[in-house]
Amino acid sequence: MKLEDIRKILVLGAGTMGLRIGLQAALSGYDVTIYDIDDRAFAAAHKIQPAILKHLEKIGKISHEQGLEALARIRFTTDAADAAKDADLVSESVFEDLNVKKEVWTKFGKLCPAKTIFTTNTSYMLPSWFAAETGRPERFCAFHFHDVFQAVVVDIMPHAGTDPWIVDLLMELGKKLEQVPVVVHKENSGYITNAMLVALVGAAGALLTGGVASYEDIDKSWKYNFGMNGPFEILDKVGLDTAWHITKTLPDAKSKKFADLLKTYVDAGKLGVKTKQGFYTY
Ligand SMILES: NC(=O)c1ccc[n+]([C@@H]2O[C@H](COP(=O)([O-])OP(=O)(O)OC[C@H]3O[C@@H](n4cnc5c(N)ncnc54)[C@H](O)[C@@H]3O)[C@@H](O)[C@H]2O)c1
Repeated sequence: MKLEDIRKILVLGAGTMGLRIGLQAALSGYDVTIYDIDDRAFAAAHKIQPAILKHLEKIGKISHEQGLEALARIRFTTDAADAAKDADLVSESVFEDLNVKKEVWTKFGKLCPAKTIFTTNTSYMLPSWFAAETGRPERFCAFHFHDVFQAVVVDIMPHAGTDPWIVDLLMELGKKLEQVPVVVHKENSGYITNAMLVALVGAAGALLTGGVASYEDIDKSWKYNFGMNGPFEILDKVGLDTAWHITKTLPDAKSKKFADLLKTYVDAGKLGVKTKQGFYTY
């Protein structure tokens, strides 16, 4: 399979990442199907995608017509069989939960044609944890985006059974999707950036739950020294539910304490930027 053979991209999950990956794929000329089990996710995507396009137009990256054409190339569905039937490549962005990932890949492994290449956008899991469920581990690889439009690195991380040509193809596809592809040579939780980020966020969480400083002052300490978003601003953007799913899997006591704090936000429906309330109000 060559880059030109990829025409139809199926995105699984219409949340924070799925709607962005789908939009970029459509801007790059692909026919995109976005599948979710919960059609309420589509309402948010219908608001956020035009807002992203408006911004891209404002900064001169795309024309109004290019934005409209991209939207016209995207369809949304809750019909799994219909979504899968002619996909050339699948990009999976469902919840960061191993059982959910296994369930989704078992389903789409059976529904997709043999030609389809499978990729996961998991943040911290390893592709080998659910490669068998895809039914085609040799065509399965992690293809992990960051923010898609602002943070443009895409990590390509094969597992031991991934065919090497898949890595080469994803390198080309990453560039076509206007990302900067990097290859992670051996499976590593958190790839490259997130492996560094988890150390920062973990330290910030321990400072907060240890009563050392407020989240505002922890953020200021990072932001005004290094000119970057503070760790709690980053978490609000990532989504506190996603952050909780990741943190609760870490084995140490400080991470467990921080995961408990994140859970109180999740239970209160305060998931960060996407619900307009997390550590901060948006
Ligand atoms: N948020 C980030 O900044 C970020 C960055 C890179 C990677 N990721 C990873 O991307 C994935 C998605 O994260 P997100 O932030 O977009 O999550 P999200 O919660 O915003 O969206 C997840 C979507 O998956 C859907 N879903 C759940 N179960 C499903 C199923 N069985 N079938 C189909 N759809 C299902 C949900 O309805 C929801 O719309 C996770 O693995 C996460 O770790 C997140």
